Amino acid sequence: MPTTSAILLNHLDLLEMKEKGEKIVCLTAYDASFSAILDASGVDLIMVGDSLGSVIQGHPITVYVKLEEMVYHARCVARGRQRALLVVDLPFLSYSTPEQALQSSARLIQEGQAQMVKLEGGGSRIAIVSHLVEHGIPVCGHLGLLPQSIHQLGRYSKQGKDQASANTMLADAVALEQAGASVLVLECVPSELAKTISERLDIPVIGIGAGADCDGQVLVLYDLLGISKGYIPAFSRNFMDTSETIKGAVESYVDAVRTGQFP
Ligand code: KIV
Repeated sequence: MPTTSAILLNHLDLLEMKEKGEKIVCLTAYDASFSAILDASGVDLIMVGDSLGSVIQGHPITVYVKLEEMVYHARCVARGRQRALLVVDLPFLSYSTPEQALQSSARLIQEGQAQMVKLEGGGSRIAIVSHLVEHGIPVCGHLGLLPQSIHQLGRYSKQGKDQASANTMLADAVALEQAGASVLVLECVPSELAKTISERLDIPVIGIGAGADCDGQVLVLYDLLGISKGYIPAFSRNFMDTSETIKGAVESYVDAVRTGQFP
């Protein structure tokens, strides 16, 4: 367990957990009440994901989410938690240039109380990550399935299945770490590739639909509770099936991730 004296966990605590081989437990949240439940249940990292476009706003995809909406939900979540690291998504088209990314991140940190911002993609995003890190902003990368690129992708599907795309993803992961990213999320990636990337990087790799060998796991909270109204990915699990309370379901998830029983 993290030993630093700060009340809130930070990226160094997660690094220490990876070094010790302790699984990192992450979940999304969008308001203060759920944030408090997650925090009290031992979740290490709370992510205000732009998945709120689907589960809170009812859109089929995430590209409609605005920066001010992320700021609002981040601030709500920040008030509910006492320990967990707070990571907030930069929404679609809020980080197209390094300057825009800096301005958007400043709002997430100063108005939303984010401790770290998350952005999707490698390639041209690497320079943006460097720019944010140079300005003292911790960054979480996100590779694999990139929901903000859905109009380009055409459908939600597993990424990195062929050798060429797997090589590109590994190279992007290494480049993100070299650019100073503190954490990496891998979404819908073959487990072997996720294992290779997790072993290659020093920074913690958090998987969602990426197998059991990542350093930690994240799920969309509403999928875990079985209340998402739209599509629920096959890799998710409804923890309410075996729990009587929301807190019980979250605690079961925390325990299952820590002990390697999920995924
Ligand atoms: O938007 C989101 O909630 C996310 C996580 C589930 C990784 O990006």
